[in-house]
Amino acid sequence: TSRCSSWVYKRERNHRSDCQHPLDHQKSKRVPENHLFLTLYLSMDPYMRCRMNEDTGKNTNFTKGDFVTSFYWPWQTKVILDGNILEKVDPQLVDGHLSYFLEAIGMPGLTYLIGVQEKSHITAGSNQTMVVSGAAGACGSLAGQIGHLLGCSKVVGICGTPEKCLFLTSELGFDAAINYKEGNVAEQLHKLCPAGVDVYLNNVGGDISDTVISQMNQNSHIILCGQISQYNKDVPYPPLHPAIEAIQKERNITRERFLVLNYKDKFEFGILQLSQWFKEGKLKIKETRINGLENMGAAFQSMMTGGNIGKQIVYLNTA
Ligand SMILES: NC(=O)c1ccc[n+]([C@@H]2O[C@H](COP(=O)([O-])OP(=O)(O)OC[C@H]3O[C@@H](n4cnc5c(N)ncnc54)[C@H](OP(=O)(O)O)[C@@H]3O)[C@@H](O)[C@H]2O)c1
Repeated sequence: TSRCSSWVYKRERNHRSDCQHPLDHQKSKRVPENHLFLTLYLSMDPYMRCRMNEDTGKNTNFTKGDFVTSFYWPWQTKVILDGNILEKVDPQLVDGHLSYFLEAIGMPGLTYLIGVQEKSHITAGSNQTMVVSGAAGACGSLAGQIGHLLGCSKVVGICGTPEKCLFLTSELGFDAAINYKEGNVAEQLHKLCPAGVDVYLNNVGGDISDTVISQMNQNSHIILCGQISQYNKDVPYPPLHPAIEAIQKERNITRERFLVLNYKDKFEFGILQLSQWFKEGKLKIKETRINGLENMGAAFQSMMTGGNIGKQIVYLNTA
C-alpha cells in the first residue's frame, strides 16, 4: 500500500541519519544531508488510490523554521527526509494559511491553472461554455473559478449533493450546478447549455463524462484530468465507450490526458498567479478538515466517496 502523500511541514533541527528514501526507512544507504521535520498537514488525493495498485534533485539548504512541501511524504507525525525531494514554500504567499499549499496555492490549483491555459483554448469574450465534473472537490472547485478568470462566459459544475451545488453557485460564482445523483443529467445539462459545451474539465470519467461529451460542440476540448469513478477498477484510464469515441472523432473534440507534473517549468509562475488571485479575493478556497494521523484512512475513504467540499485535509500539528 502507498504511504506517500503531499504535505506541509516545518523543519525542527539538523539531523543526520542513514535513511535515504521516505518510503523505506529500513534502507541504510548514506545520503549527504537529511533533515527532521514536523508534519503540519497531510493531503488526501485521489492519485493515492492508483498508487495502491502496486508498490510503486536539487538539494536545498534549509534553516530552522523553514516550511517545505513535497509529494513524497510518509503518513507520520515527524519524519527525517532527504532535502533533495523538498520544496521550500513562502508562508506570505498564503497569508499564513499553510494548508493552502496543498490545495489552491499548490498542486490542485496548478492543475487547472495550467490545464485551462494549455488545453482549453478559451478566448475571453468569445462566449464559451465550460462544464466541470467533480466540481465541488479540490481541483474542480478551483477549475470553475479559474475558467471564469481566464475568460469563459458560462461555467456549469456537476457534483454529488444539493449542498455542493448551492456552494458552487452561491460562493464560488459558478453559473449553475447539477447534482448527478438526482434527475436526468443529460436533460439538465441541455437546458443549462443550449448552445453546447466548448470545454469539459473531466475529473470523474464514466457515465457523467459520456453525457457531457455527447453534448460537446464541434472542435471543442476535453481536459482529461482524472477519472475517479474508474479508480477502483483495474484500468484507471479505460478507453471511451465506442459510441462516445465516435462522437469525439466526428466532432473533432480534443481529449489528451493531462498531467500537471509534466509542466514543472510553469509551477513557479503559476503559484505566484494563484497567490495573487487569492490575495485579491478572486479565488475562493474551501477545505474539509479531519484531525489526527489516526483518521487518515477515514479521511481518504471520505474523500473518495464525496464526503469533502473543497480539499480534504488532515490536520496534525500547529507550526
Ligand atoms: N491530471 C492531473 O495532473 C491531476 C492532478 C490532480 C488531481 N487529478 C484528478 O482530478 C480529480 C479530482 O481530484 P481532487 O483532488 O480534486 O479530488 P476531490 O474532487 O476533492 O475529491 C474526489 C471527489 O470525487 C467525487 N467522486 C467520487 N466518486 C465519484 C464517482 N463515482 N462519480 C462522480 N464523482 C465521484 C466526489 O464528489 P461528489 O460528491 O461530487 O461525488 C469526491 O468528493 C481526480 O480524478 C484526480 O485523480 C489529476
